Amino acid sequence: MPRPRETKVDLPLWTLTIGDRAAAPILFVHGFPISHEMWLPAADQVAEEAFCILPDLPGYGRTPPRPECSIASYADDLAGLLDAMGERRPVTMCGLSMGGIIALEFFRRHRSRLAALILCDTRYNAETPEGVEVREKVARLALERGTRVVAETMIDRALGPHVEPMIKARLMHLMCTTPAKGTAAGSRALGGRADSLGTLRDIDVPTLLVWGREDQITGLEIAQVFEREIPGSRLEIIEGAGHVPPMERPAEFAAVVKKFMKARPPAH
Ligand code: MLT
Repeated sequence: MPRPRETKVDLPLWTLTIGDRAAAPILFVHGFPISHEMWLPAADQVAEEAFCILPDLPGYGRTPPRPECSIASYADDLAGLLDAMGERRPVTMCGLSMGGIIALEFFRRHRSRLAALILCDTRYNAETPEGVEVREKVARLALERGTRVVAETMIDRALGPHVEPMIKARLMHLMCTTPAKGTAAGSRALGGRADSLGTLRDIDVPTLLVWGREDQITGLEIAQVFEREIPGSRLEIIEGAGHVPPMERPAEFAAVVKKFMKARPPAH
C-alpha cells in the first residue's frame, strides 16, 4: 500500500517525506551529482518500516545552489533541516557515496543526532593530490560545458555491467538535470573532504554497510575496510548492482534496509 507523502518547500532544503511520522526516522543523503530521486525506487518499501526523509542538498534537485559548499556545510545543512522539521529524535542516516562521506562528517559534528548509520558504496579516504586536480577539472567542465559532459564521463562506471537501459536513462537524466553550479560545488567539496579512516573505529552507533557487488567507483575492497574498522558493523552485498544499488536493485536494497530499521525502535 502506498505510504503518505509530503513535499516540504518551506524548509532550508527541499524535502520529501514518505511514511508514518511516528515510525523511526531515516534520513537519506544522496550521492553526486544527483538528487533525492535516486532513493525513490526503494523508499516506498522502506517506508513500511520507517519515516523516510529525503532532502535535496544545496544545488541538487529542487534546492537552489550556493556559491560555496563543503562536506561539513552539507552535514550542517542536514542538522539544520532536522531542527527546522522539529525532528528531535536521533535519526538513522543512510548515505550513498558522497552521501556516506557526509554521514561520516555528520557523525563527527552531530553525534547526538544519530541513532544508526547505513553507509552505501562510499569512501573513507581524503582525496589524493591528483584527485583534487581531477575534481577541479570536473567542476570547470560542468561550469563551462554543462552537466551532460560530466554525466557522460561517469555514467558507465556508475552502474553494473548488466543494468537495464531504463535505469541507465533515469540516472543519466538525474545527472544531466543537476544545475552546473551544484555539480561544480559538489565536485570541489569532494576534493576537499577530510580523511575519515581514523573516525571509523570511533563509530559507536549500529552500522550497516550496503554495497553493490559490481561497484566500479568504490569497490568492495573499500567496503571490507569499513567492515574491519567499524565495531560491530555488518556488510550486505547486493548482487548484480554497481555503485547505485537503490536504483539498480531497489527491492533487494529496500529489504536489507527494512530489516535493519525493524530493529530500531522509534525513540521519542
Ligand atoms: C557519488 O556517487 O557520490 C560519487 O561517485 C562520489 C565520488 O565520485 O567519489
